[in-house]
Amino acid sequence: SKGNHRHFMLKEIYEQPIVVAQTLRSYVRRLDGELAMPAEDFDLSAVKRVTIVACGTSFYAGMVAKYWFEQFARVPVDIDVASEFRYREPVMEEGGLALFISQSGETADTLAALRHARAAGQKIAVVVNVPTSTMAREADLLLPTHAGPEIGVASTKAFSCQLAVLAAFAANLARAKGRLSREAERELVRHLAEAPAALNGALAYDEAIEAVAHIIAKARDVLYLGRGPDYPLALEGALKLKEISYIHAEGYAAGEMKHGPIALIDEHVPVIVLAPSGPLFEKTVSNMQEVQARGGQVVLISDYDGVQQAGEGCIATITMPKVHPLIAPLVYAIPVQLLAYHVAVAKGTDVDQPRNLAKSVTVE
Ligand code: F6R
Repeated sequence: SKGNHRHFMLKEIYEQPIVVAQTLRSYVRRLDGELAMPAEDFDLSAVKRVTIVACGTSFYAGMVAKYWFEQFARVPVDIDVASEFRYREPVMEEGGLALFISQSGETADTLAALRHARAAGQKIAVVVNVPTSTMAREADLLLPTHAGPEIGVASTKAFSCQLAVLAAFAANLARAKGRLSREAERELVRHLAEAPAALNGALAYDEAIEAVAHIIAKARDVLYLGRGPDYPLALEGALKLKEISYIHAEGYAAGEMKHGPIALIDEHVPVIVLAPSGPLFEKTVSNMQEVQARGGQVVLISDYDGVQQAGEGCIATITMPKVHPLIAPLVYAIPVQLLAYHVAVAKGTDVDQPRNLAKSVTVE
């Protein structure tokens, strides 16, 4: 049931602190700050390369994970959407690890890609929310998310749980490859363990986000910008907005704006900038200023320090809790989900059952 919430999507957005905590319980031992894995016997030390394949929102979780696998484990990552992967004759070395991410575990394109990778001699890891699904059954290494049933067609809580599992898995891989000191491991686990409270902190800004939604609801086109692991969040924000509010939206890597899309900028196109404090903040802000210099109407989503530093000249700002860059993609999922949700409600569209979409896509 929807409980006190008007839609399943809103209920599921609000469940995120709890389901992320629930999911993390299988991947970290809270008491001693040590990583844990559901399948301790699966040998990760020999993994030389990871191939990530998924669709839609699950694919964006995979894009975030690519940064983590490369940064922590120094393992090269190939990533593609499932519908392209199978047909481009991807090169997979014998014994590589192929990682599939899916809420339902039944998406036809992803499942076909999984079987293709297995036939090419890959070990199969699956991050999946439905434990009885086909993909769960076909995995060598099953990495479950514990988001509980997701009813809203637009994926929300499954995404944040996928990110939590992928962060823990990247850290596990780094450890198996001897690239994580005991101290660094404890540090990573500590940041992960902070995620549920940070998600609660982000949810506390719901009203401020709803106010911004009333501006966005009037737009015909919206751009989302982010950098590094927050770039996939820009793509996710745009996907959420288009699928439930039917407003045309695009996500871009902030630095790509000047290579073309900046031509779109005028006072009618709101630009939502995801810029948590951290190593990429200054660069993202300078891309944002290029947009503002051309009359762009910017909504800045950052933490208190970021908003203080760069909020001037924005049409609105949304303040998030200040978090370690590792968990920023989880935390920034909340404002992009809530923004899409409130825009859709303002426009009166069917939030839980958007037109033309099904919860599980079982045709290729
Ligand atoms: C977007 C959405 C879809 C799914 C995609 C993959 O909100 O829900 O883009 O993420 O169809 O579905 P799963 O994860 O079940 O494989």
